Amino acid sequence: MSGSGKSTIANGVEIALLEKGIHTYLLDGDNVRKGLSNNLSFSPEDRTENIRRVAEIANLMIDAGLVVLASFVSPYKKDRAMIKKTVKDVNFVEIFIDTSIEECERRDTKGLYAKARQGLIKDFTGINAPYEVPENPDVLIETEKKSVEEAVSKVMECIEKILK
Ligand code: ADX
Repeated sequence: MSGSGKSTIANGVEIALLEKGIHTYLLDGDNVRKGLSNNLSFSPEDRTENIRRVAEIANLMIDAGLVVLASFVSPYKKDRAMIKKTVKDVNFVEIFIDTSIEECERRDTKGLYAKARQGLIKDFTGINAPYEVPENPDVLIETEKKSVEEAVSKVMECIEKILK
């Protein structure tokens, strides 16, 4: 969810991979929704379209030999399954950044939860839009129990196995 720590962990993983000489690209709501998906809202249909575009772009980047870190809310199970199908199982690692809604709202890094509570943002994940929890993620990170360094190591362990 927003404020869960996705971007912080993804940034750490990107640095760890670059230190090993592995080329990466970090896709997230900030860069994709400003350009490629700037005509999309947060309705269920538009989120599906956003994630479809992310999957297709990731697939091209994988073709070019990059490790793509895709840091998205992606709240619907069917959309995550679609990414896996597009990039193929072997290229897909599902990482669930598990942070309670209470903690995300307490952090409120972008002030969006306060706005959503005031009714100024509709379809806000965790407040008035659903989040379908990944039931069997490849990596589970509980940010309220682990440091950023520990989270990065856990993701790296999984990715390195696959890259080998
Ligand atoms: S997704 O559902 O389509 O995957 P995406 O990851 O691109 O969402 O964008 C989420 C980011 O957009 C959040 O981190 C937050 O900063 C911002 N945002 C703005 N409006 C919303 C909303 N209604 N629900 C969730 N995030 C929102």
